[in-house]
Amino acid sequence: MGPHRRDTRTMTVTVVPSQQVLNPQLEIAGGRRLSGEVRVSGAKNSALVLMAASLLTEDTLRLRNVPPLTDIAGMGEILASLGVGVRRGSDSIEMDGSGLNQSAPPYELVNSLRASFFCIGPLLAKLGIARVPLPGGCQIGTRPVVEHVKGLKALGAQVTIEHGVVSAVVPGRGHRLKGGRIHLDCPSVGATETLMMAAALADGETVIENAALEPEVVDLAGLLIAMGARVRGAGTPTIRIVGVERLHGADYAVIPDRIEAGTLLLAAAITRSTLTVGPVITDHLGAVLTKLEEVGCRLDIDGTCVTISADQIRAVDLRTQPFPGFPTDLQAPFMSLLATAQGTSVITEHIFENRLQHVGELQRMGAAIRMQGNTAFIEGVHRLSGAPVKGSDLRASAAMVLAGLAADGITTVQGLEYLDRGYADLEGKLNAVGATIRRVG
Ligand code: UD1
Repeated sequence: MGPHRRDTRTMTVTVVPSQQVLNPQLEIAGGRRLSGEVRVSGAKNSALVLMAASLLTEDTLRLRNVPPLTDIAGMGEILASLGVGVRRGSDSIEMDGSGLNQSAPPYELVNSLRASFFCIGPLLAKLGIARVPLPGGCQIGTRPVVEHVKGLKALGAQVTIEHGVVSAVVPGRGHRLKGGRIHLDCPSVGATETLMMAAALADGETVIENAALEPEVVDLAGLLIAMGARVRGAGTPTIRIVGVERLHGADYAVIPDRIEAGTLLLAAAITRSTLTVGPVITDHLGAVLTKLEEVGCRLDIDGTCVTISADQIRAVDLRTQPFPGFPTDLQAPFMSLLATAQGTSVITEHIFENRLQHVGELQRMGAAIRMQGNTAFIEGVHRLSGAPVKGSDLRASAAMVLAGLAADGITTVQGLEYLDRGYADLEGKLNAVGATIRRVG
């Protein structure tokens, strides 16, 4: 394995430039009703991990329904730095793993994209060696990788963490991981996915207990099976994987983004509008749809489309939980809605310790919110008022956009470098159904 050389010969197309123009912001003229139909893109969190699975095969992996996001472009750059040929189509991406010749993605790329840590599992499985910088903390909390490392050790890897870099090597002849039994202390989505990819090429059977149940885990299992892997039980707490010697290419469509879908449904709810959102897999949105009904929205489900109508919004209590509970990624957007509800709601954030930073910004817009630890008490107000605000992370930025849609006057939202990581043209989609949002700067 060579040093950390960056080889971009095979990187033919970049999705969206990673750099943003200087301090762009959204100007939202609030108070407009929305109506019509809005299309949901492919799931960012699925697409990122499915892209990493391209490291497991020398064949071409083609993913469809890939959203045009800066995080996807970042992952493409990381794969290219490892020797993968990456070619982007309009909503697809092709990755040719035959040139994989590096085991160490460079720090500057990994640092800007937490999901790049996904590379460690497949690199170790394919090459027997991986050196991946720790992804570090982020705006919403510390986000450790203890469970990933513990699991890789259970599969026979020797892992050391020094100077901020996780170095893993599979000792012995053939450098092949060995199947093993892993019990996760918490059902980490990232750890479950990392270990599934590692186990897919290991020698023998791996059992992952207390695995994450998230739809993105099931999507990864679907892709791995399409590549020839033997995976059972994804979507249940026990996943069994019998390693195979070789995985082949596949052509696979990413699931719709349940978090984007939830955000769009909330855009309708906060503007007291009627909107059709699709495609969605409604089972992926169970807890969210239930909460929307509890607050008083009417939902009409027709196959993969949900039509939501909102008029009066009532207060509710909610706590974030692993799937199938209410997703932490929709906690901030839902808080914007509850800031306009009748009565007092209580939101408790259980997944990430630092994920209530949007509260201060919502208060700037006139929301009446009191905090106690990881709990927010939200007393609904008749009207939010437009103000300059800043999103502190991806979902907080979306929460600000939603609040701006409902507020009196103009709201300017900064922090678009986060928004653009996870929402494909959010303002374009909302403008097409009646919002007035302008990107400036
Ligand atoms: C993924 C999603 C993210 C979502 C989160 C929870 C991607 C790219 N990101 O993140 O959008 O908000 O799931 O649904 O898919 N933990 C540990 N030790 C570990 C790993 C995690 O204690 O080794 C804890 C974390 O601190 C957190 C909880 O487990 O409190 C959930 O984290 P995890 O499921 O790993 O989230 P990610 O995979 O990072």
